[in-house]
Amino acid sequence: MPKSIPLRGPTKAPAPIERLVVKLDVNGRTHEVAVRPADVLLDTLRNELGLTGTTRGCDMGTCGCCTVHVDGVATLSCLTLTALVEGKKIRTIEDIAPLGTDLHPVQEAFHRCGGSQCGFCTPGFIMTTVALLEGNPRPTEAEIRREISGNMCRCTGYLKIIEAVKTAAAELSGEAARGNGNVDSAGDDS
Ligand code: FES
Ligand code: FES
Repeated sequence: MPKSIPLRGPTKAPAPIERLVVKLDVNGRTHEVAVRPADVLLDTLRNELGLTGTTRGCDMGTCGCCTVHVDGVATLSCLTLTALVEGKKIRTIEDIAPLGTDLHPVQEAFHRCGGSQCGFCTPGFIMTTVALLEGNPRPTEAEIRREISGNMCRCTGYLKIIEAVKTAAAELSGEAARGNGNVDSAGDDS
């Protein structure tokens, strides 16, 4: 009679995962949070800090919904370990409007140009666009297309988003205020 072989050894409760206490600078405020080594910034922002404006789409770095700024650079928070951004300046969609206003000019441009429909992708596009225009106030259309290529939208077909970025660029660089802001010229690659 063959002996039965146990499929598993004796079960042992897994050791609890140690948490690290990290100090995060988010939107100009310091937060102390206890995180597991594998926790990503998207979860920390949404679940620990209640900053749910940053949305979760694919959770694997392909949709851009979760874009925030880390030291001014557009960054996918679903792929960023929270423990690694201690000491860096994190900025989210909740803090993007200038003091005393409700909307950033980029948000206004998206609203006016129809660059947002269901809105799920919009925080990511806004954060990508703001980082782009802070570094390059008058991007060509090719530069805009390249910069937003990591952000996906299922609703708008992208043309209105590109128009919104051009409009925001013209306004922020003062052309619209001077009355000579030909929005279409913002996309002139020649
Ligand atoms: S949720 Fe981060 S890229 Fe999609
Ligand atoms: S506005 Fe709906 S996914 Fe972009």
